[in-house]
Amino acid sequence: TTVEWEAESYDMAGHDTYMHKEIVEQVDAVDRVLRGRIDDRFATVRLGGLNLDAREARSMRRVKILGCGSAYHAGQIGAQMIEELARIPADAEPASEFRYRNPVVDPDTLYIAVSQSGETYDTLAAVQELKRKGARVLGVVNVVGSAIARETDGGVYVHAGPEVCVVSTKCFTNTAVAFALLALHLGRIRDLSVADGKRIIEGLRKLPGQIAEIMELEDHIATLAKEFADAKSMMFVGRVRGYPVAREASLKLKEISYIHAEAYPASELKHGPLALIEPATPTVAIVPRDDLLEKNRATLEEIKARSGRILAVAHEPQEKADDTIVVPRNEPELDPVLMGIPLQLLAYHTALALGRDIDKPRNLAKSVTVE
Ligand code: AGP
Repeated sequence: TTVEWEAESYDMAGHDTYMHKEIVEQVDAVDRVLRGRIDDRFATVRLGGLNLDAREARSMRRVKILGCGSAYHAGQIGAQMIEELARIPADAEPASEFRYRNPVVDPDTLYIAVSQSGETYDTLAAVQELKRKGARVLGVVNVVGSAIARETDGGVYVHAGPEVCVVSTKCFTNTAVAFALLALHLGRIRDLSVADGKRIIEGLRKLPGQIAEIMELEDHIATLAKEFADAKSMMFVGRVRGYPVAREASLKLKEISYIHAEAYPASELKHGPLALIEPATPTVAIVPRDDLLEKNRATLEEIKARSGRILAVAHEPQEKADDTIVVPRNEPELDPVLMGIPLQLLAYHTALALGRDIDKPRNLAKSVTVE
């Protein structure tokens, strides 16, 4: 409840910033979003409060996820998980765009609003527009009893605990895991096999320990960050599952270091942005060991040939990268949850090297409750 949060949220627990505290808290936070929800008997999950029965889950024909900023990026990851595990067409869109375009509301579409605070005006307004047009809207929210949680027909609380830093870290990660739970739930109602359900559950259970392993990389990441602190602009690239990871990492860097950064689908570089690559413009590449590994390695070669400095986030060292942050490998559908975490630390240490006000970046608010 909010009262408990008040006490906990002002305890810095020995950290210099809320951001660092909340990055490190992700080990426990992810454990919390999983707690009591895994159903080994049917290789699925129990989501009390979702308010979506199996018949409705089977009948819906697409999922549209709406959010702003990091919530939108978590929604992009969630859309991919839902499409991969439940085989339902799914996509994410910025709530602020959706609400202004007089959207065609489809009765066979399940709408999901994503929000840490549950008070973001653009997201709340999108929910109200959808309800006005008779749509079914669920919420994936952190703050219990918030406006969006109350306005939606049901949903999944992400249980990240109080997130005080203006930039979202543990709530972003918990939201991505909450979507993995929802995708598993929908998949096992539809055609996802018991074997795949068990595979995903095994991967979910490994997440907290793997996040703890990533925290062990902090010193290495802090050293790398010092090399990026004088960059004037950075490029973040990824394919498919890696693209939302690149987008969120780019936002983190912009928000707290004030370095311009751009995220691009790696395959799009050759259609223009490759012209930006030069020694002064470092690139961070998301290179999971999945079916796109060779494609991603070819991108590293493209960039290297134009002498851009490359930092790869991967499951093994990348020969074409100047540096690689090697992260533990989970199930392909869950790897996006892990691959962004080192880049939260990269943004944090880059901002630290630049002496920025990390918990209260200029021009930004924790919850944008105005239009
Ligand atoms: C996250 O780092 C940003 N501070 C911001 O983009 C945030 O994610 C966005 O404003 C949405 O906030 P919400 O999740 O509370 O709706």
